[in-house]
Amino acid sequence: MNRNRHQETTEITDLILEAAAKARDEIGVVGKQAATAKSVKWPIDCTIGPGLEGAIACESKVGYVNGSEGMLSYRGHDIFELCAYSTYEEVSYLLLHGHLPTATELHEFEQKLINYRHMNKTLRLLMSYPVEEMNAMAALRMGTIFMRQEFTTLDREESKPTLDDAISSDEDSIAMETKPSGESRAIYEFKKRKKRKKKKSGLDDASGLEACYHLIAGVPTITAAITRLRKGMMPYEPLNELGHAANIFYMMNGRRPTPIEERVLDVTLILHADHGMNASTFASMVVASTMSDIYFSVGSGIAALNGPLHGGANERVLHTLREVGSPENAKAWVAETLAKNEKVPGFGHRVYKAYDPRARILGPLAKFHCADCKSEIQDLIATAEQVENAVVGSLAQEKKIFPNVDYYSGVVYTRLGIDPAMFTPLFAVSRVAGWTARVLEYIQNNRIFRPRALYTGKFNQEFTPIDER
Ligand SMILES: CC(C)(COP(=O)(O)OP(=O)(O)OC[C@H]1O[C@@H](n2cnc3c(N)ncnc32)[C@H](O)[C@@H]1OP(=O)(O)O)[C@@H](O)C(=O)NCCC(=O)NCCS
Repeated sequence: MNRNRHQETTEITDLILEAAAKARDEIGVVGKQAATAKSVKWPIDCTIGPGLEGAIACESKVGYVNGSEGMLSYRGHDIFELCAYSTYEEVSYLLLHGHLPTATELHEFEQKLINYRHMNKTLRLLMSYPVEEMNAMAALRMGTIFMRQEFTTLDREESKPTLDDAISSDEDSIAMETKPSGESRAIYEFKKRKKRKKKKSGLDDASGLEACYHLIAGVPTITAAITRLRKGMMPYEPLNELGHAANIFYMMNGRRPTPIEERVLDVTLILHADHGMNASTFASMVVASTMSDIYFSVGSGIAALNGPLHGGANERVLHTLREVGSPENAKAWVAETLAKNEKVPGFGHRVYKAYDPRARILGPLAKFHCADCKSEIQDLIATAEQVENAVVGSLAQEKKIFPNVDYYSGVVYTRLGIDPAMFTPLFAVSRVAGWTARVLEYIQNNRIFRPRALYTGKFNQEFTPIDER
């Protein structure tokens, strides 16, 4: 593992290990897990709620979230260990390849990232738009399309998927509904599927590993350029001697980070890199399953992340903490908010019914990093602690409500000098590793996503000519 980069930030390693020990103490010894999870035999039965809640869409070896215990791992590696000992570069390699890189593999991967960070054509195109007037996520999505044009040959006739490729994952190959007219339970006939030859690296070069590397390296360059263009300033060129997190910091802020700033940003990147079948990951997979390419997939992930139910809660947390105003007001503010049946931003999670492990790391990280800063940020963190105590005191036992990843991330980003409008793009910068890893995995054995809606409309309507309606 890349421990050298952490030599100057051992306090951060220590606080992550402390958080891990605290988690172990509180969770207790969970039933010993088998070395590998079991595969299933399809089709499977599962109970599905609205919004596909409970639906199992695919198998995956990329990451595992245990919501009832509050555990998260990538490719079998516990999130606490990854944050304590590795870097975002190692983690993205791990997500994409399934194993931690050797020193040679890491070096080669880092060289690719260095090359792909430079995107002159993309930035030129981006700069020709009034980015300062745009939603930052819209600008980021547009940037991924420019990146596609800089990279891909997909639009050339010879690179298009063959009919053979297409038909094997076309809608026609979907299991047939034999009673399609509104029954509460679909009855499917699963045709025996022909085994398809595995492709080496996805559909073509715009869906292959190189495109994933290009996106992991390039999305940060675009995000940083948007940060600058929004302020009416020219983007910074990436510096080849800096690592991933340090480059992002440099391109956003125009100065090299201190080792602590670099490490803090790196840890936040690791923590947001993957998280099961969340909406943006699913969106990117749905697009990939149509045999579109990975740039369109990542663009869809960005589009899904733009919605306030997915990205952006950390911005609302900052707003809330400022509204609370001071640590002394926290208790009364929480009591009043809960009495009105309102939700406190940054608490609760659809999957975690225990303390979110990412918040277990971000909380102490925020406190550590803010200890020596201006009083305004110190007030924010002190207020956050008191609001946490009050919410957890009222809701943890009965409703299993704890802080989520967004609760402390906004404070951490603020301390790093990042504008709130860039919080969600920064989430995308990190999640691009998870999106691409899951897409790459899925398309190796692709099947177009095609759930169905339960028809609850009318039948047998008579057609009335327009002048008689
Ligand atoms: C994330 C969230 C949508 C999860 O929703 P969910 O799993 O469907 O949970 P529910 O909305 O069903 O909530 C279960 C109970 O806990 C309460 N609750 C959930 N989140 C709460 C919060 N942030 N503050 C106060 N109460 C909360 C609900 O009011 C509900 O109470 P009830 O049973 O008396 O009706 C929800 O917790 C939320 O809106 N949180 C705030 C926004 C946020 O931080 N989003 C980012 C998530 S990463």
